[in-house]
Amino acid sequence: MSLAYLWPVFSCPSEMLCSLCCFALCLCPAENVEDHNMGKKSHYAKKDLILREMPPALVVVLLLAVLLLNILLYLYLSSFYVSSSHLDLDPNLCPSGYFRLGPLKNCSPWLSCEAIDKEVRKLRCVGEGAVKKVFLSEWKESKVALSQLTNLELENDFLHGLKMLKALQSKHVVKLLGYCKEQYTILTEYHPLGSLKSLNKTLDLPKYKGLNTWHHRFILAIDYVRILHYLHNSPLGTLVMCDSNDLGKVLSQYLLTSDFHIVVNDLDALPLVNQSAGRLVKCGHRELRGEFVAPEQLWPYGEEVPFDDDLMPPYDEKTDIWKIPDVSNFLLGHIEGSDIVRLHLFDIHMECKKRNPGERPSAQIVLDTYRKVLTSLIREVAMPGTREML
Ligand SMILES: Nc1ncnc2c1ncn2[C@@H]1O[C@H](COP(=O)(O)OP(=O)(O)O)[C@@H](O)[C@H]1O
Ligand SMILES: [Mg+2]
Repeated sequence: MSLAYLWPVFSCPSEMLCSLCCFALCLCPAENVEDHNMGKKSHYAKKDLILREMPPALVVVLLLAVLLLNILLYLYLSSFYVSSSHLDLDPNLCPSGYFRLGPLKNCSPWLSCEAIDKEVRKLRCVGEGAVKKVFLSEWKESKVALSQLTNLELENDFLHGLKMLKALQSKHVVKLLGYCKEQYTILTEYHPLGSLKSLNKTLDLPKYKGLNTWHHRFILAIDYVRILHYLHNSPLGTLVMCDSNDLGKVLSQYLLTSDFHIVVNDLDALPLVNQSAGRLVKCGHRELRGEFVAPEQLWPYGEEVPFDDDLMPPYDEKTDIWKIPDVSNFLLGHIEGSDIVRLHLFDIHMECKKRNPGERPSAQIVLDTYRKVLTSLIREVAMPGTREML
């Protein structure tokens, strides 16, 4: 069989239909082809002759063979496309239950109670919140973070956080290395730059001064919104970041990575919203006050009616959207250029602060707007004055 018959298959490999058309074109009578290209007339006429000399059964067999080849090629290429786009998203991700420390290492299974007991050495306390105490520790010459429950009354929060960590492993979430439910310990990747709470202190250090630019800080704000978008569209459904009643609290739940990005670390208070099933959430059972939380999180019946959790109406993930402008403002800081970024974000931030949660944009819309603003600012820095020219 002439390779010329197969050529159209490879010339447009992902389009099975296209390749079939091309194939048909190769087999079609020479008279049809000559209108288009006189020079190819004799070439196709020879093929036509060969085809006419072939027994019809053989032509059918050849046709079927090429069709089958097309289908196999199409399936192969589409599976390759899916797996490579998945890798694009998470190049370092191991299968569930495994982790990799460092890009060149193999995937290892999450450490068990025994392995944590035997192989992990606690060094010093590096952080503490309402639920856990966190220790810089050592495992096989790597620095790791060992979190331990501090108050048994908060056992459910701890276990919920662990369940979420296990289910949401991705580039947005701190890497889980192991856990021991019986001893209430969780082992995660250690991030020496700590939580976002110490961002300004970190950027004041001579070593990191070069990163204290509107550009790097804006990328952190984009990371933050990207994480919210991930939580609101997670594999488990729409999750609300409830551990967020004031700015310091929000910032303490996120870690700054050494390559200057953000991962979410504390997933202890992450309830699930299901709008279509009418399932809404409440962030805790106590009364919330202040301007940082969204208006719908405040007690709606005035001072004269005492707070009653049973009467408190539930709400959805738009509480996270309300808080975006405050977190972004902190991340942008007060440095050269950050006010210009703020000015460009003014409109979208006004939308985030709509009192009616239903009128606030989704995390996707905020993310798209942030990205557009970044692109236009970079273009403007590269080619100042282009805006005036347009
Ligand atoms: N993997 C880590 N690397 C570095 N610091 C961490 C890590 N995990 C936690 N911390 C520090 O410990 C603090 C408390 O951790 P967190 O998980 O938020 O505890 P809690 O559930 O009690 O709020 C964080 O704000 C951060 O400063
Ligand atoms: Mg915390």
